[in-house]
Amino acid sequence: MKTKLSVNINKVATIRNARGGNNPDILKVAADCEAFGADGITVHPRPDERHIRRADVTALRAMLRTEFNVEGYPSKEFLDLVLRVRPAQVTLVPDAPAQLTSDCGWDTVANQEFLRDIMNDLRDAGIRSSIFINADTCMAEYAAKAGADRVELYTGPYAHGYACCKEEAIAPFLETAKCVKQLGIGLNAGHDLSLENLKYFIDTIPWVDEVSIGHALICDALYMGLEATIAAYQQCLTK
Ligand code: PXP
Repeated sequence: MKTKLSVNINKVATIRNARGGNNPDILKVAADCEAFGADGITVHPRPDERHIRRADVTALRAMLRTEFNVEGYPSKEFLDLVLRVRPAQVTLVPDAPAQLTSDCGWDTVANQEFLRDIMNDLRDAGIRSSIFINADTCMAEYAAKAGADRVELYTGPYAHGYACCKEEAIAPFLETAKCVKQLGIGLNAGHDLSLENLKYFIDTIPWVDEVSIGHALICDALYMGLEATIAAYQQCLTK
């Protein structure tokens, strides 16, 4: 099975919000991403709505034809939103409200009870769950124990170590990915993946179900255009 590409469109909403109007129109951008070959769309509505707004999540759900992945910290407000909108997948991140971007995974041991209750609610609503974790086999095991359908590996440290020594950078990810496979749950990956480092990650861990990519992909689109950029990322995912 080919690894799916979910395009994170937070950055597009950041540009829209800078001028208060509706340019760029994120619904059109999402539809164009789908038309250009994205397998899904990811958004991360934050409490301050500095990029994706809660109303965007509802509007996107109504028009998307591919998989919709909503990420966020499971506050009451976030859970009310996703249980109402029912995207295909919800990815839980441990971010504090004002955090610039996700920079670590869950401690799935310390938060076991908290996460288990949420996994149950998501399962009852027919939503696939994914827990964002660092490359750590113990965190993967306890995510599975909490009932997660998938984990998403936080790939920031891989991306930062790639230029220096890619074999060293990927080693803990490969070990955790093998553990995830044995646990029988799905495997996602995301953060700081780019045209530079994506292919090696997928060639080494070809059983990744889905990557979600935002920052680098939208930056590349400024030069290459959205259509060519999505094609280039899909090319990296071709096994
Ligand atoms: N996965 C998660 C959980 C994230 O929070 C983000 C950033 O919103 C991404 C993936 C995408 O990261 P990037 O924008 O660096 O591609």
